[in-house]
Amino acid sequence: MHGNNFAMTDETNLDEESRRLLLAARSAMANAYAPFSKFRVGSAILTAKGETFVGCNVENSSYGMTNCAERTAIFSGVAKSGPQLEIRAVAVVNNQGVPCSPCGACRQVIYEFGPEAVVIFQTAQGWKKSHITELLPDGFRLK
Ligand code: THU
Repeated sequence: MHGNNFAMTDETNLDEESRRLLLAARSAMANAYAPFSKFRVGSAILTAKGETFVGCNVENSSYGMTNCAERTAIFSGVAKSGPQLEIRAVAVVNNQGVPCSPCGACRQVIYEFGPEAVVIFQTAQGWKKSHITELLPDGFRLK
């Protein structure tokens, strides 16, 4: 099956761009700082300019200060490419091979820079590619 939002699938059935992003996310996952949860996460974003930026989760002794892999990738992209960053796709992987979709906070941050973005993530049934508005209905934007 093709297109966005297709049914859950084996990773090898994903389109090439999604698989490339998952590979980039996996290499970033190696840098995760996750001594508390031991749950290492990597993320990669594709921008409208064709750039790829990656991130990993960065935990903290004050647990609530933890930054998820997705937000690390997005903030790194803004730092490197500038505030006009436009996200086309976000991929997320973890070291335990378990279902992991972006948390609510990350969904809002994805929406800010990518109201048309697709998100590639693992579910109990396999890999899924969903539009951000499906994951975050009525996302908030000031502009
Ligand atoms: N985490 C992410 O980095 N991204 C997700 O999509 C889910 C959760 C991180 C936060 C924390 O370091 C660890 O996973 C356990 O929640």
